[in-house]
Amino acid sequence: MSTTTLPAVHVAAAEQAARRRTFAVISHPDAGKSTLTEALALHARAITEAGAVHGKTGRRSVASDWMEMERSRGISVTSAVLQFAYRDCVLNLLDTPGHADFSEDTYRVLAAVDCAIMLVDAAKGLEEQTRKLFDVCRHRGIPVITFVNKWDRPGRDALELLDEIEREFRLKPTPVTWPVGIAGHLRGLMDVRHPDRMLRYTRAPGGAHAALEETITADQAADQEGADWSQAVEEVELLGADAAVHEADSFLAGRSTPVFFGAAMPNIGVRLLLDAVVDLAPPPAARPLETGGDRPVDAPFSGLVFKVQANMDPSHRDRIAFLRVCSGVFRRGMTVTRAASGKPFSTKYAHSVFGQDRSMVETAYPGDVVGLVNAASLRVGDTLYAERPAEFPGMPTFAPEHFAVVRPVDIGRSKQFRRGIAQLDEEGVVQVLASDLRGEQAPVLAAVGPMQFDVVIHRMEGEFAAPVRLEPLPYRLARLTDASGGEALNRSRIVRGESLVRSRDKAVLALFPDRWQANSFQRAFPDALLEHLIAAH
Ligand code: G4P
Repeated sequence: MSTTTLPAVHVAAAEQAARRRTFAVISHPDAGKSTLTEALALHARAITEAGAVHGKTGRRSVASDWMEMERSRGISVTSAVLQFAYRDCVLNLLDTPGHADFSEDTYRVLAAVDCAIMLVDAAKGLEEQTRKLFDVCRHRGIPVITFVNKWDRPGRDALELLDEIEREFRLKPTPVTWPVGIAGHLRGLMDVRHPDRMLRYTRAPGGAHAALEETITADQAADQEGADWSQAVEEVELLGADAAVHEADSFLAGRSTPVFFGAAMPNIGVRLLLDAVVDLAPPPAARPLETGGDRPVDAPFSGLVFKVQANMDPSHRDRIAFLRVCSGVFRRGMTVTRAASGKPFSTKYAHSVFGQDRSMVETAYPGDVVGLVNAASLRVGDTLYAERPAEFPGMPTFAPEHFAVVRPVDIGRSKQFRRGIAQLDEEGVVQVLASDLRGEQAPVLAAVGPMQFDVVIHRMEGEFAAPVRLEPLPYRLARLTDASGGEALNRSRIVRGESLVRSRDKAVLALFPDRWQANSFQRAFPDALLEHLIAAH
């Protein structure tokens, strides 16, 4: 459709969408996500600053510290957004809580981004949570840019790290920058698109964190850096011969990943990474609809709720729904429709800043994230739209790895107990599984990360006045099965009937203590189990 025939508001949506880059950093704890986020923000002009940088003990504390529990642990439970302007673009960096206590929220954030930066520790290579998050990116078709961090410290060989990415993720690494000097002896970077020069970094005087950057010619580099430079030149030639060259189509299709080297702490290579987000990462695009077809960015307003957070502010006792704008222009105060119920929803209380520091948002465009306050009727996976109806596919639920039976401490409060558990299930705080053997007063909770259980304990007591007791179960994975699978399970000696549970949408799940047992059951009853790593609602 030609933009000249569209009303001005739709043209604005298309133009603004083209300027947006909405992305997240995926990494294992300690790889340097907070440090990188700060370094990225340093290069950009922050529009709103909402806790994308974690409030670790002794570090900058931020708005996302919303629960007492969170403060005492010094970690961030909420997902927040940092929005900043860079060059002629607006960047939305969504925070994926990356601490050891993993949760489903971390995964869901990825439903709201168009690209991910995979942060790899130069010494450790690919780690567990990076693998899990990468799986989600691949599943959702999210293109991944790789940043190898901490090159200022001793670490592994650059070619060996690329090899690991290619071998384990079946993802072709295509370096855009290349280190001059081995890990721990970082002299500078070569931008492989400009091999005739080197970016050299030196320590800043006066103890400032960021290193000083200067550009020198290849001749100067050969002269001054000697073997380090010639090794870099040789390796880059080798990569060229191996066709490890960035190519937009294969990157966007998830077959290759442009790789950047650097060190977030002294701010080396970060500007080049930020440029890559603008130049290589895709802007918001038409989004597939549940009913087939898709919703172009210049269609009337639509958005997807990817997270619902209750009680972020104890003095408000409200709920915030985090909405990613998918098409059109969002204006605060507009009345939109909730696709699931067909009911209107008022956006009078829309905020751009999350956590306790909120500020009103007036307008938002595709790719932006809006916090909707008083969103009691909204659920994770909900679509909101204006004018022309739209419904996006629901949010996937993720294979849980932690299971526990939950019981009310006080039997007299079983009504509050049931109401609270149902509410937390709907919000997606945990998955609630029913077990015929255990009955209504003892459902099984399933979570991706054990911290989700802490949230349940905290909220059941604080919000529903129904304190609960949790009894961990010795299971570590769930597999989708069906009625015949259930029968087989009951006959099998590997799994007892108590490990058969039903989810809210009536899916039958079999729980196993480990992969080995699941596999041996699978061998005994080949038709009984349906493989499921990430299951859609
Ligand atoms: P996370 O959010 O991924 O968990 O990691 P975070 O940024 O907190 O970084 C983890 C540790 O790694 C921090 O050290 C941080 O300073 C360090 N780090 C991050 N990037 C680099 C880098 O490029 N080079 C070097 N040498 N170190 C880096 P810490 O001692 O745990 O904390 P702090 O006392 O430095 O804050």
